[in-house]
Amino acid sequence: MKTKVTLNLNGNQVSGTVENRTLLVDFLRNDCGKTGTHIGCDTSQCGACVVHVNGKSVKSCTILAIQAQNAKVLTIEGVAPDEDQLHPMQDAFRTHHGLQCGFCTSGMIMSALELVERIPDPTDRQIADWLEGNLCRCTGYLNIVKAVKAGAEAMRSQAPRSEQNRQ
Ligand code: FES
Ligand code: FES
Repeated sequence: MKTKVTLNLNGNQVSGTVENRTLLVDFLRNDCGKTGTHIGCDTSQCGACVVHVNGKSVKSCTILAIQAQNAKVLTIEGVAPDEDQLHPMQDAFRTHHGLQCGFCTSGMIMSALELVERIPDPTDRQIADWLEGNLCRCTGYLNIVKAVKAGAEAMRSQAPRSEQNRQ
């Protein structure tokens, strides 16, 4: 059985008709061309597929595309302010060598962004705990923690004053 799925993807309305069993990650990659969202396992353990659904980080291999009907979905392709500029968290991963092969990186960044949303100045322990659902085979994690800390700091310094006052 097929269903038409419509959602807001990185600020744009997209639609596609999919088998009901289609996973959100497959819809994003195959139907929407958002291949920055990766598939690193078939056991829902690696976190390479993390995207935001209505502002929350979600492993997109764990939900069906039809469950995201009318949702706001943000993928790594939608985080930078424009084509010529990285998001501060992306920039921090680059500057602090938070990646090697990069396969885990989009999921790491999407998870990190929700962490910073919840805890603007996270400790190393909070970062490590938050990212326990994101696996990296390359870096040994230390530089990822450094990158998230630096990314959080950059995001705080870029936050409008009114937003800082609320924190
Ligand atoms: S692809 Fe590994 S957790 Fe989703
Ligand atoms: S950078 Fe290679 S898996 Fe994390």
